[in-house]
Amino acid sequence: MNNSFKNQVVLVTGAGSGIGRASAFAFAKRGAAVAVLDHAEESGADTAWKIREGGGKARFFRADVSREEEVSRAVAHAVATLGPINAAHNNAGIAGARKPLDAIEEGEWDAVIDVNLKGIWLCMKHELRAMLSQNTGGAIVNTASTWSFVGAPQAGPYVAGKHGVLGLTRTAALEYADRGIRVNAVCPGATQTSLLNLDENPERERDLVRAHPLGRLAQPGEIAEAVVWLCSGAASFITGQCLVVDGGFLAK
Ligand SMILES: NC(=O)c1ccc[n+]([C@@H]2O[C@H](COP(=O)([O-])OP(=O)(O)OC[C@H]3O[C@@H](n4cnc5c(N)ncnc54)[C@H](O)[C@@H]3O)[C@@H](O)[C@H]2O)c1
Repeated sequence: MNNSFKNQVVLVTGAGSGIGRASAFAFAKRGAAVAVLDHAEESGADTAWKIREGGGKARFFRADVSREEEVSRAVAHAVATLGPINAAHNNAGIAGARKPLDAIEEGEWDAVIDVNLKGIWLCMKHELRAMLSQNTGGAIVNTASTWSFVGAPQAGPYVAGKHGVLGLTRTAALEYADRGIRVNAVCPGATQTSLLNLDENPERERDLVRAHPLGRLAQPGEIAEAVVWLCSGAASFITGQCLVVDGGFLAK
């Protein structure tokens, strides 16, 4: 079965919640040992515990993806504990303040770019080093967004960061293809997670539902299935691509 991850180690960032948690569950269901990485101690540990409770294999590693020392330590710890990393889903991200460009403070810009763009580079850097030293090849998927392709008012740093994730993904795909490492992105449309903060804004949910031709938001598991597929042998000739999972949002 080419979508089995038995005897493989998969690292997932932002795995304490939403899409990352669903991805960790989806890889574990297919037999992977999952390195659950998050900066949030409680929710990250809970994801790993739930996987183990269901009979799977997982360990939690705390790290802020925007801090190189923490990322480097967590990746090394994951390899030492679970074994060589075969695949990684770099997914940790934040929404940031909703403001027009002229109102954004420098610190607000840095906060979003540090996690959503620099964090993707830092995680890839240390995963790639691990994969290269193992000489095993591998697969990496970065979470981008439909907003990697279009602008969105009041979301300047988020949109810029997500456009950047595609550039990094394509560059990494070219740099490591000859070492058997595939690098792709997944581009979700609006997905039912805490990132959207919909409890406090039901009107926004109605607008988002209207913007997606399938007439609803995605569930995190629907994004996770695309990530698993991109990391699997079924996608063995795919690299440098972005798989859009958006209920038709970008087709309009
Ligand atoms: N929800 C959506 O509509 C949507 C759409 C497109 C793309 N995305 C992207 O999907 C990814 C996951 O978001 P989600 O919707 O599941 O949100 P979420 O808030 O449910 O999950 C994000 C996770 O990332 C973790 N995280 C945040 N900052 C971190 C840091 N500095 N270091 C380590 N972990 C950190 C959080 O603790 C949390 O567990 C993000 O990159 C987001 O931009 C989400």
